[in-house]
Amino acid sequence: MTERHSPTVNPPSEPGPAATGPGDDLAARLRGKLADELRQRGDLRSPEWREAVLRVPRHVFVPAFFQRTDGPGPTTWTPRVGESPKEKSSSHLEAVYSNTTLVTRLDGDRRPEDVEGPVTGTPTSSSTLPGLVVRMVEDSGVHPGDRVLEIGTGTGYSTALLCERCGDEAVTSVEYDARSARSARDALATTGRHPNLVVGDGLLGRPEGAPYDRLIATCSVRHVPAPWLEQVRSGGTLLVPLSGWLPAHGLVRLTRGRNAGEANGEFLPGCVSFMGAAGHAAPAVQGLANLLNREDAGERATDHGPAVLEDWTTTFLIQLAAPTARHLGTPAGDGTFREHLVDPATGSSATLLPDGRGGHRVRQSGPVRLWDTVEETLNRWERAGRPDQARFGMTVTGGRQWVWAGSPDGPRWELPTDVPTG
Ligand SMILES: C[S@@+](CC[C@H](N)C(=O)[O-])C[C@H]1O[C@@H](n2cnc3c(N)ncnc32)[C@H](O)[C@@H]1O
Repeated sequence: MTERHSPTVNPPSEPGPAATGPGDDLAARLRGKLADELRQRGDLRSPEWREAVLRVPRHVFVPAFFQRTDGPGPTTWTPRVGESPKEKSSSHLEAVYSNTTLVTRLDGDRRPEDVEGPVTGTPTSSSTLPGLVVRMVEDSGVHPGDRVLEIGTGTGYSTALLCERCGDEAVTSVEYDARSARSARDALATTGRHPNLVVGDGLLGRPEGAPYDRLIATCSVRHVPAPWLEQVRSGGTLLVPLSGWLPAHGLVRLTRGRNAGEANGEFLPGCVSFMGAAGHAAPAVQGLANLLNREDAGERATDHGPAVLEDWTTTFLIQLAAPTARHLGTPAGDGTFREHLVDPATGSSATLLPDGRGGHRVRQSGPVRLWDTVEETLNRWERAGRPDQARFGMTVTGGRQWVWAGSPDGPRWELPTDVPTG
């Protein structure tokens, strides 16, 4: 782990970006347009954060990105590199100042500058949707004077916004990927910002800077890592994207309790997803054919068809019910796909089949009857009045963590806090 401590301290009120040159007027105009759009959408709510959005030049943090193309084949990524940092082509600036997530790394450390033409790959770093970044800083209640720990520096754009409000010395940000961290540090320095940047595993937090008033994670976790709970002060807040291996997502805001290791909170509205944190990501599924073709399979009718694997709230519930399960599709041979829930950890699977009359059957095999577990969870949720995910909450105490639906006394599901194998 390497660290670069800030040699300078900038008060929050100090003028932000130092960058000047051709294209800066256009960039400033586009920032104003973006801020207006984010305010109209309700993401940007306070004048102070609006000022930060107006001051942080996102194009310095995202000089290049991958444009996504979905086609009949696999998703491809086309590199889009600004003509030159000085010239700042207007189309590049318009793309960078749109309310869009911009993917900046594929498969660990492939940058747009490294490839020519469309490529395939898995996004591993991005500049988060600006609307989501500002919603998160607004929702976490960050104020000047707060000490903030950010997990997932990425491009450094969200780090720069935090520096605008709190001052460089109050912001610590941890990034797993050394190359992303280097680019972020350079971009922050270009804009005159020198927060405490750490290259390392953010799941460990950063004890040296604790206690923090706020923790904001921009990569998702299967449970809240114990060091995060230890490093935020009593009464401080943690904004945590929760996800799993289905994958299903939720964003929870927790308040640290009086005792270390205790926290309570509620899920925030909206359908937002983040890339999984290294260390919590799903392992590759091995031996799918064997999992699907076990001899102990049994088949029965089910009231719950594939739609429950598409809906935002029910997919999250299914993930709670079967935390190591994955949702996969295989071609059915008639142009449609068969939907499967497979759990390599237990060697179990459930396959949904049309019953020919508009309903569904399920074929289950392995020691855990996955669809029985899913139905039991969905039935409990239905009996609780089918609360939307925005009415879910979370409790952490005594080394256990659970998500509840509707109210803290409602149905609950424990999160896996064991060391993941991903
Ligand atoms: C969505 S990006 C961050 C976006 C960033 N907030 C921005 O505005 O550019 C998520 C980042 O989390 C980083 N990450 C993933 N796992 C991590 C871990 N265990 N510790 C620290 N950073 C991690 C990824 O490398 C990636 O850069």
